[in-house]
Amino acid sequence: MPTHIVLIGFMGTGKSTVGQLLAQRLGYAVVDMDAEIERREGRLIRDIFAEEGEGAFRKAESDTLSEILSRSEVQIIATGGGAVLAEQNREAMLSNGFVIALTADTADIIQRVGNDPARPLLQGNAADRVHKLLLERKHAYDFAHLTLNTTGLTAQQVADKIWDSWRSRG
Ligand code: S3P
Repeated sequence: MPTHIVLIGFMGTGKSTVGQLLAQRLGYAVVDMDAEIERREGRLIRDIFAEEGEGAFRKAESDTLSEILSRSEVQIIATGGGAVLAEQNREAMLSNGFVIALTADTADIIQRVGNDPARPLLQGNAADRVHKLLLERKHAYDFAHLTLNTTGLTAQQVADKIWDSWRSRG
């Protein structure tokens, strides 16, 4: 089984952008989990939340993650911010991937996610929602093999750091 590169982290920490840059650098395919869930479900994430609630979304997320991790080609996987909440997902990521957590200062996260209508968990007062969720998920990303604070770095610099760690990992 290959070791995939798995990017985890709160919304707005740059997982998708860094994933694309890493894919260009390493020549592996990049899979954006949110996009993959939308493709499999044939509807937008915000519609899954609105029509069936968060539980249904989490189930689709776990099923999608498990299918992606079972693929035989090495991939760079940009996960959704809540994919780490289920223990089975954390275990699957650790067994099948090199797991990298991206973090960022709260102010940066709020500025990056703005009032994005595509993120159902941030509807209403986005800044309040970010503060509350960050508190709830204080240690949710601690299980990663490597943690990188992206504040003050460009996405390219973050991708370069990951590339260095991936190379020296042997
Ligand atoms: C979520 C993060 C989102 C998306 C969904 C739920 C979360 O992904 O999966 O809106 O629970 O943190 P991004 O981290 O790519 O925004």
